[in-house]
Amino acid sequence: MELQTRRWKIDHEAESGAAAIREAAGLIRAGKLVAFPTETVYGLGADATSDAAVRGIFAAKGRPADNPLIVHIADLSQLDELTENRPPLADQLAAQFWPGPLTLVLPLKKGAVSPLVTAGLPTVAVRMPDHPVALALIRSAGCPIAAPSANVSGRPSPTTARHVSEDMLGRIAGILDGGPTSVGVESTVVAVPDNTIEILRPGGITAEQLAAAAGKAAVAAVAPEDNRHAAQDAHKPRAPGMKYKHYAPRGCLTVVSGYDHDAVARYINEQLAAPGKRGETVGVLTFAEYAESYNADLVLSLGSVRDLRQAANRLFACLRRFDEHGVSHIWAEACAEQGIGQAVMNRLQKAAAGRVVKI
Ligand code: TXA
Ligand code: MG
Repeated sequence: MELQTRRWKIDHEAESGAAAIREAAGLIRAGKLVAFPTETVYGLGADATSDAAVRGIFAAKGRPADNPLIVHIADLSQLDELTENRPPLADQLAAQFWPGPLTLVLPLKKGAVSPLVTAGLPTVAVRMPDHPVALALIRSAGCPIAAPSANVSGRPSPTTARHVSEDMLGRIAGILDGGPTSVGVESTVVAVPDNTIEILRPGGITAEQLAAAAGKAAVAAVAPEDNRHAAQDAHKPRAPGMKYKHYAPRGCLTVVSGYDHDAVARYINEQLAAPGKRGETVGVLTFAEYAESYNADLVLSLGSVRDLRQAANRLFACLRRFDEHGVSHIWAEACAEQGIGQAVMNRLQKAAAGRVVKI
């Protein structure tokens, strides 16, 4: 059934912001879905304690039911309501990084949220977002808010309210427009077993930041989509669809990595020729320093190679722009897997569904 989706533009200064947030919170309490800005990407929020509301999230996104959701809180006291037997390291990380782009996977207090949120797992993923609209919405709703990224499953995550509209108009009750998000990639998801920090998904808080905070605790990356696997297999061409596809533009994306930039550019320009001759629209995703190297229909820059925070901020919007231009083949230059570059490369590799070429 087609819904009438409300849209509120939030001006931080204006009282209209408070009225819009109150209205949106009322919809959440009534079991409806409202998209809202966070510092990472826009979330698709619902009352985490309501089975019917949470079911709505999975339906609106077309998300597989076995992929659990993150629960968003606005106050540390809510952590006690949701979790139990927390390792001291978890509280230390929460104190240090919240509000912020870190999600902690912790033992669930039974019955605290709908079992649909956790996909039946004994753990729950919790985060306190660093965005005034998100925090005000959670406080006003008076319940923990379950929220995945507000995109149709498999599409690039939304970093503006317009992206949310593209995917969700007619499917949800409302969209709070708080402007473009600042971080641009999702939160870092970590588990904290036995005084160890396991990174399940790289994101806005870097491995280096976690290591600096960890003291004697070890930091380990255990993402099933671990970047290093893709890098090892990089020379092997893979059939599209072999791997679970995520964050993907409609065009066919290939990531090209190599230390010698001239060789990378030569390879990509060669690749552009054949589909270009067939009359297909071709695109390149690169960095400001290299944008002049390419001859494609659409060349987009992720900003300077020396500041990968810009790349994180622009990545998903660029992937959507290739779609808007009907680009059928995209080649993306890899970046260093350091700092926030780990999250950027993780999303690029998933968007490429394993098509990574090493030069
Ligand atoms: O920045 C973010 O994290 C954004 C904003 C909206 O907060 N949210 C987000 O949600 O990215 P989503 O659903 O797109 O990604 C949630 C990730 C998934 O990879 C999911 O498998 C993992 O968190 N996750 C959730 N609960 C988990 C659990 N109990 N154990 C392990 N992984 C979990
Ligand atoms: Mg997502």
